Amino acid sequence: LMLCFSLAVGSSNPVSLRSADSGVSSSFPSNFLFGTASSSYQFEGAYLSDGKGLNNWDVFTHTPGNIADGTTGDIAVDHYNRYQEDLDLMSRIGVNSYRFSISWSRILPKGRFGGVNQAGIVHYNNLINELLQRGIQPFVTLTHYDIPQELEERYRAWLSPQIQEDFRYYAEVCFISFGDRVKHWVTFNEPNVAAIRSYRSGIFPPSRCSGSFGNCSHGDSETEPYIAGHNMILSHAAAVNLYRTKFQKEQGGSIGLVLNALWYEPISDSTEDQLAVERALAFFMNWFLDPAIFGRYPEEMRQVLGPKLPEFSSYESRLLKRIGLDFIGINHYTSFYIKDCMFSSCEQGPGASKTEGLALRLEQKNGSYIGEPTAVDWLFVYPRGMEKIVTYIKERYNNVPMFITENGVFIVELGFGQTRDILNDVRRVDYMSSYLDALETAVRKGADVRGYFAWALLDNFEWTSGYTTRFGLYQVDFPSLKRIPRLSATWYKNYIENFIFKV
Ligand code: NOJ
Repeated sequence: LMLCFSLAVGSSNPVSLRSADSGVSSSFPSNFLFGTASSSYQFEGAYLSDGKGLNNWDVFTHTPGNIADGTTGDIAVDHYNRYQEDLDLMSRIGVNSYRFSISWSRILPKGRFGGVNQAGIVHYNNLINELLQRGIQPFVTLTHYDIPQELEERYRAWLSPQIQEDFRYYAEVCFISFGDRVKHWVTFNEPNVAAIRSYRSGIFPPSRCSGSFGNCSHGDSETEPYIAGHNMILSHAAAVNLYRTKFQKEQGGSIGLVLNALWYEPISDSTEDQLAVERALAFFMNWFLDPAIFGRYPEEMRQVLGPKLPEFSSYESRLLKRIGLDFIGINHYTSFYIKDCMFSSCEQGPGASKTEGLALRLEQKNGSYIGEPTAVDWLFVYPRGMEKIVTYIKERYNNVPMFITENGVFIVELGFGQTRDILNDVRRVDYMSSYLDALETAVRKGADVRGYFAWALLDNFEWTSGYTTRFGLYQVDFPSLKRIPRLSATWYKNYIENFIFKV
C-alpha cells in the first residue's frame, strides 16, 4: 500500500517528501522494532540534580582542552527534565521502541561503596512508565561510556578486576528495579570503542595512552586496551549470568551486547589484504563477540598479541559459552578500505594501526572512496556495508537475533543564523532510506534482524566533538533547547507508517 506523504511532523516544514520506499511489501517482520536511540551523558544533562554522583565524563569535560568546542554535558539537551516532551516527539514519529541508557552514577553515586540513590530510581521508573503508556518499549543499556568517577579513583575502573563486582551489583539493582517492565537489556554500548579511545588513543577518559598512539604520558597503548576489554567482558558475563540465574525466568526479557560494527573491503584482491580484513574484523568487533558467544578470543588476536592478550580461565570460558547472548546489537554507520601493512610494506594512512592490519579510511581505490564522503573523515556513505556486516554476523554467530541499535549520519553545524538551512536534511533521508533498503535485503536473504534505531531523535553532545556535529532527526536550538523537526523526522514518521500498512 502506498501512502500519500502529506502529514508533516512539524507544522511548518515546507519541504516536499520523497517516498519512504517504493516496494509493496516489507521484508521486516510485523513485530519489528522501530525506534530512536540515545545515551544518558549525551542527552540528560542535570549533572548535579537529585543526588547524582559525578561520573568520568563529568570530570573529563570539565578539564580544559578535552572537547573540541570546550562544552560539557552539564545540560546537554536537558532530557532529564524534558523527557515528556521528547516522548511526545517519539509518539508523533510513531516509534514502538526507545533505546536509552541508565546513568550509573545517578543510581549508584559511589558505585557499590555507597547507597542507592532513590531519586534516580524514581526518574527511570517515570521514564519507563511513560514510555509504556505510549506503547513504546524501553530498550535499555546499562553503561554507555559513563561510569561513576569513584571507581576510577578507588581502583582505576576497567583496569581492575574489582569492577566486575561493581558492574554485577549495578546490574542487579537495575534488574530488581526495572526488570518487571524492561524486556530488552544491553550490558555495554560499544566496549570496543570505549577500550580503544580510553586506553589506546587516550581521547576518552581516563585519557591513557603511550608511544605513537596519542599525546599521553601515562598508560600503555599496547596492553591496557586488552586488559580493560577483558574486564568489560567479564563484567558483561557477571551481569548476564545474574540475569539468567535470578531474573530471566520470572521477568521474561532478553539480554545482549552492542558493538560498533564497521564493514571492511580489501583494497585489492591480494591474499594479504583479504587477511588484513579478517584481522580488522577480529581486532575490532569479534574481540568482544567471540568471547561473549564462543568463550574465547579470535584466533587472529591470539596469534598477533600472544601474551599481551589476557586469558580466560577454563571456568570463565565455559561460563561465557554457556550463558551466550540473546541478541547482538549492531551500531553501524560506515565502511573502510583495508590494506595490509603487517606483512606488506605500505604507507600508513590516518587512524592506521599495524596490529589490526590497517584501516585506511581515506584511501581511494581506482580514484574513488568506498562511498560518498561526508564532512568528517570517519563517515562514508556505503549502504551495501549494512547488508554485508549483518550477513557476516549472521554467518559467524549462527544467526543469533540482531538489532541495529544505531544508524545515522551527522550534519555539520553551519553556525548561528544558518541553522535553518540544515532542517532540509535531504542527505540524512537518503542515507537512512538507502541503509534501510540494504538492511531489508539482508533480512530477505535470511538474517534474523528484529529492530532498527535511528541515532538520534535529537542533536546532542557528541563526545569529543561537543555540539559541533549533529545527528538529530530534530534540530536542537542551543541555548533555548527548542526542538525543531528536520525533514528526516517527517520522513521517518512516514517510513514507519508506510511499514505498518505493508505488513
Ligand atoms: C556510537 C555511540 O554509541 C554514540 O554514543 C555516538 O553518538 C554515535 N556513535 C555517533 O558517533
